[in-house]
This record gives sequence, structure tokens and C-alpha cells, in this order.
Amino acid sequence: MNTLDDLFAEGVAGRPVLVRADLNVPLDGDTITDDGRIRASLPTIARLAAAGAQVVVAAHLGRPKGVPDPSLSLAPVAARLGELLGAEVALAADVVGPSAKSTVDGLVDGAVAMLENVRFDERETHKVTAARGMMALEIAQFMGPEGAFVSDGFGVVHRKQASVVEIAKELPAYAGDLVLAELAVLRRLTGEPPRPYVVALGGSKVSDKLAVIESLLPKVDAILVGGAMCFTFLAAEGLGIGDSLLEADMIDTCKRLLAEHADKIMLPADVVIADEFSADANTHTVLVAQIREHWKGLDIGPITVERYSDVLRGAGTVFWNGPMGVFELAPFAEGTRGIAQSIVDSEAFSVVGGGDSAAAVRLLGLPEDGFSHISTGGGASLEYLEGKDLPGIAVLDH
Ligand code: 3PG
Repeated sequence: MNTLDDLFAEGVAGRPVLVRADLNVPLDGDTITDDGRIRASLPTIARLAAAGAQVVVAAHLGRPKGVPDPSLSLAPVAARLGELLGAEVALAADVVGPSAKSTVDGLVDGAVAMLENVRFDERETHKVTAARGMMALEIAQFMGPEGAFVSDGFGVVHRKQASVVEIAKELPAYAGDLVLAELAVLRRLTGEPPRPYVVALGGSKVSDKLAVIESLLPKVDAILVGGAMCFTFLAAEGLGIGDSLLEADMIDTCKRLLAEHADKIMLPADVVIADEFSADANTHTVLVAQIREHWKGLDIGPITVERYSDVLRGAGTVFWNGPMGVFELAPFAEGTRGIAQSIVDSEAFSVVGGGDSAAAVRLLGLPEDGFSHISTGGGASLEYLEGKDLPGIAVLDH
């Protein structure tokens, strides 16, 4: 796999370099509520710009349906990137159209510009490889014969998409520093990590996490289950869960996992229930056997936090993916805060697996340097740990 060092050795000054970054940040209107992914992408972009490359950043935001959607424009992202770089970042009005071409043509050495949201072009996520290939070819053409591609969007390397995979076949391709750093950490988790190896898993759906649970169970010492997905496990234990989120078709799977791995899977002992999904809801903290009919569980309770924290404090390695509750709403944030704080307090090699949990760390004001690594990739880090091939990485190895 070629890296930025190889690109620098070949010479980068004056060359157009396309950087695929993952700048898929949470937005409230056009306000960025967590700029962690932009800050994580900065070193590679700044390093290239400082070396005199003409840097063109390609990124997606949300999941537009292959047509321009002004609410998912990268404008707020380009503005924030410019602030962090201390230099203006021009944003093309399209992905592969006349504006993109003239933006790239007009770039001076050391400047940074962005294409508009790559998912505004339906070919980015097209099922047909040739369609994705055509989009990549068009981008490569306006990058010109001196063009190069740097893959640094770790959060999307599990996606078979034009600006992630096909583009690496059209331009000389190099792994960026963020991608290399993320892979190095995940390799440590799949090697012989210090024991006990404890995984804290939250988030809403068991179905999203099933593959990683199955593949981690033989390798880890404990899996601490929280988030909305714990209710499907509790239902599998025969408990009434009121109106909490349930994936009925996963109950049998949860039963099997609990039967086979009762020694490793820990479930909540108590939860915070609410009469509605709102920060103003009436709430109670109850034992899991006492969840009221028509109430929904929205966080793990303090007894659970204490039990999970005991396990986390003694861990040698921790991987955490998925909030323990609806941390965005104050009454349901304490479970996530408590677990995150215990990880910070532990001596473990600790990895936060991207997405919502990384945002939770920052939004709840926990010290980022209290964790060994905060990944920018939620889905990507899970797929890596499942042992799946990541297409955006595999293509760099060719
Ligand atoms: C993410 O937010 O996990 C990445 O940016 C990938 O986004 P996607 O799940 O919409 O492909």
C-alpha cells in the first residue's frame, strides 16, 4: 500500500491531489454540532497544502438520493475546514460539472478546495460498477495527468463507492495518515490485546451489531450491552419491556447468544424509563423486571453503570461502540457519561468506535485524551473487527 510518504518522495508540489475525507458531521440546520471528523481530517489536508499540492477534498454528507439536496450541501463543512486551516476553502457548486472543473483549474499551489457532496451524483453509490467507474473517470480527467488520489476517509472505507474505490483505479492512489493511524489501532485490537478485553456495545439495533457480536464473542472476555438494543436481549430473557425498542425478529438470535455465552454477555440490571421520547418526559429508574407497560427504556440505570464500570476499570483493553442511552437528551445521558468516564479512569488501551459514541465523548465534555484512540469510523471499525474486507483499503493494496 502506498502512503503519503511515497507521494511526497515522488514530489507533490504543484500537483492536483484529490483527498477523500469523511466529513460526515452531525448538523443542526446548518450548524455543525460536532466537528471531530473535520479536525481528524485536517493533518493530511494541511500536510499536502503545506507541501504545495493543489488539494481537492471530496466528501459526502448524509444520504441524499443521488440528486442535489441543499440541506446536505457541504457549505458549512467547507467554512469550518477553512476556519481550522486558516485559509479560505472554495466549494464547487457541483461534483463533476463545470463548477468542479473550474474550481480545480483555478487552484493555486498550496490552496484547498472542495467538491460538492459526492452523493449528489447518483453514480457515487450506484450498484453497477461501470456507473461508479464512469464517475471516477470524469473526476480523474479533471484532476489531470499529474493528479493523485489520497484515501483518508476512514469512516467510508467499508463503502464500495466511486470516490472511495473506483477513483483509486483511475489515479495513482495513496493511503492518508488518518487511514494508516486507524488501521494501526484496529490491528492492535485484532492481534493479542492485553486482557481482560472488554467490549461495551450500545446503539439502537441488535441487527446492526449482530455480526460484530458473533465475531467478537470468542475473542473477548466480556460484552457489556446497553443502548436501545439491550431491550431485545431483555425480551429474549422473557422480561416485559413496555414500549421500549424491540426487534422481534432478533429475539431467537439473542436467546441463542445468551444460552451459548451467558458467561460473557452482561445485560442491564436497571434502566431509566420514560412516558415519552422527550427531554421533558416523566422518568423513573427501575429494575429491568419492573419496566412499566407503555413506558420506554431510554438509558441504563445507575446500578448497571456501577456493575459495568467495575468490569471496565479492571480491563486491559476496551472497545466501545454505541451510546448506552439517548445521551442527546439530558435525562438519559448519565449511562453513556458513566461508562465513558469509567473508560477514561481505567488504565486500559481504549478505543472508541466512531460515530455516535465519538460524538458523545465530545458533547458530554469528556477529555478526548482520556481514550487511547477515538476512531472516526463507526461502521468501518465494526466491519474491520468482524474480519470483513474493507473495499476502500483493499483497492489500495492492488
Ligand atoms: C458514517 O457516518 O459512518 C460514514 O460517514 C459513512 O456514512 P454512511 O453510513 O452514510 O455510508
